[in-house]
Amino acid sequence: MPASTNALDAPLDRDSDVPMVDQIQNRVIDAVAEGRLVHHERLPSERALSAALGVSRLTVQAALGRLVAKGTLYALRGRGTFVADPKIEQPLRELTSFSQDVTARGQQQASEVLDQRVLPAPIELAPVLGVPEGSEVVRLKRLRSADGEPLVIEVSHISHALCPGILSHDLAKVSLYAVLRETYGLSLTSARQSIEADQPTAEEIRVLHLPTGTPVLRTARVTLNAEGQVIEFARSAYRGDRYQLTVDLH
Ligand code: GLP
Repeated sequence: MPASTNALDAPLDRDSDVPMVDQIQNRVIDAVAEGRLVHHERLPSERALSAALGVSRLTVQAALGRLVAKGTLYALRGRGTFVADPKIEQPLRELTSFSQDVTARGQQQASEVLDQRVLPAPIELAPVLGVPEGSEVVRLKRLRSADGEPLVIEVSHISHALCPGILSHDLAKVSLYAVLRETYGLSLTSARQSIEADQPTAEEIRVLHLPTGTPVLRTARVTLNAEGQVIEFARSAYRGDRYQLTVDLH
C-alpha cells in the first residue's frame, strides 16, 4: 500500500522564491524526519502527487529523482519509490578498519577481492609510501559490503617489503589490518584522511549499484605506525547515498 498523499499534501507556496522542485524535496525530507513517512514505505504515485500538489508530473519526477540520488528515497523499477534506510553514520574519531566499523554497527561485513597484485611502485606513489620508485608494492582492490549491501570500493597500497607474501592470505575472508598487525607485527597508530565528493566511474556505478545521479565520497588515507612510517595508502569510493561521515569538533 503506498502512503496516502496526506503526509505530503499541504499546499506548496506559489509566491515563494524557493522553486517547486525544492519545496517538494523539503516536504519529503521533513515528512521522513518527523516520522510521517517511515523507512521502506512506498510513496504515492507521481500521478497522485502531481494532482495533490498541483504541479506537473515532470516536477514531481525531478524532485523524487534528486531524493533518490541523495539517498533519501530509492526506486524499484515498476514498483514505485520508497523511503530509504537512514544513511550510515561513520564517525571519524579513531583509526578503525572497515570490518571493525561494520561489526560495531551490529552488521555482517563481507569483502570481495576485485584485483590484487604486486607491482613496481609508480612514480607518484613511491614518495607517498616512502619507498624507492620501482620497488615492490602490493595493490589490493576490494569491494566491501555490510549485510549484503555494497558500500565502498577500497584500493590499498602497501610496500611489499613490509608484508612479504601477504597476497597468499585470503583477503576476502580476513581483515587486512588484522593481518598487518598479527602476521607482520606492524602497528597502525594514526592516519591522515581527505574526503571529497566526485562523480562515480562506470565501474563504481556498476559494482556499487549506484542510483543514477548519485555521487561517491572519495577518501584518501595514509596510515602510519608509531614511528611515523607509512604503512598503507588507501583510496576509497563510498556510496554517497548511503554514507555520512561525521567529525566531532571541540
Ligand atoms: C578502512 C580503511 C582502509 C583499510 C581498511 C582495512 O576501510 N579506509 O584504508 O584498508 O579499513 O579493513 P579490514 O581490516 O577490514 O580489511
